[in-house]
Amino acid sequence: MIDIVVGLQWGDEGKGKITDYMSEDYDWVVRYQGGSNAGHTVYVDGKKYVTHSLPTGVIRPNVRSVITHGCVVDPYELIKEITALEEMGIDFTNRLFISKDATVITHSHLAQDEANKKTWGSTGKGIGPAYRDKYDSKGIRLGDVVTEQSYRKLFPFITDTRELLYDAERRGERILIEGAQAVMLDVDFGTYPYVTSSPCTANYAPQGTGLPLYMFNGCVVTGVVKAYTTRIGTGPFPTEFQDESLTDMLREVGGEYGATTGRPRRMGWLDMDQLRYACEINGITNLAITKLDVLSCLDTISIKDGQEYVNFPSWKLTGNETHWDELPSELKDYVNYISSRTDTTVSMVGVGQNREQLICVE
Ligand code: IMP
Ligand code: MG
Repeated sequence: MIDIVVGLQWGDEGKGKITDYMSEDYDWVVRYQGGSNAGHTVYVDGKKYVTHSLPTGVIRPNVRSVITHGCVVDPYELIKEITALEEMGIDFTNRLFISKDATVITHSHLAQDEANKKTWGSTGKGIGPAYRDKYDSKGIRLGDVVTEQSYRKLFPFITDTRELLYDAERRGERILIEGAQAVMLDVDFGTYPYVTSSPCTANYAPQGTGLPLYMFNGCVVTGVVKAYTTRIGTGPFPTEFQDESLTDMLREVGGEYGATTGRPRRMGWLDMDQLRYACEINGITNLAITKLDVLSCLDTISIKDGQEYVNFPSWKLTGNETHWDELPSELKDYVNYISSRTDTTVSMVGVGQNREQLICVE
């Protein structure tokens, strides 16, 4: 059984949080594209966990985590990430599997990407140059270099992840595939050329894992959307705020700084046309709407729908709400509007940082 979680905007929708919440019910969590450009933040019992290359599943002891051949891996960054999480008490023994066929990000890739950081705002993690070499048949695969002294720490984790996942699925185990970035950064469907260098939609999951299409029969694709829009880096953003004080306030309340680069995120309203496009491409059946609590600092909230902006009164939250029944009617109206205008079911809403503040919609 396979399900998928993907982002529906420009990344940073809170996929990590949703994946963490859902992964309690899965045996495997799998990253199938991208690399250390991603930054997934999860708060558990007051502790902050940030993953970049690693799937968010590593935080759950019941879950085994996989990085597939669809990803690009910076061995030094990955070792740093594993070490930091080990220091927080996470045990990786027999729980982490990395594809021998993942493409290596080299020092040269990092150096080449340094300029892109300044010119158009790449994360500078070497993602574009590494994928370019992969598709130019010049890539280095992890399995080819992992016996080298300095990569030793990764050695026990390297394997054939396609075979591993294939066998797991055949045994009836439950697999959750976790997207990084999002559809508007997708190399084909995003705001090209202001995109990342991998496919970021659910449609790439079969290729990025190597699992055959029939295994995706009945797959539920959960799309994660933030209650407003943010974007990092250069490129089109139709609903971006023009008002600087609004930008600053919402950015502070929402903590909208890049988890990977620390850069301030650009801020704007929710864009229904963009969201419908994202839902169409990914075949979204379920929506998870995150960070609804952040909007409670405003009096009026807008959504762009067609050429119009539709206004909604804001809501107040106590911070103790853990059930749908307890949420204010204004918040429910906002959620119901998004649901009806995208023709999807909203299955979860986020009203705070903690696991308990992710509420299932009844
Ligand atoms: P690259 O992935 O570093 O090549 O960057 C390409 C574009 O995608 C830049 O605008 C980045 O800011 C953006 N980007 C890449 N990864 C993420 C992410 O995980 N969240 C948000 N934006 C991202
Ligand atoms: Mg992020």
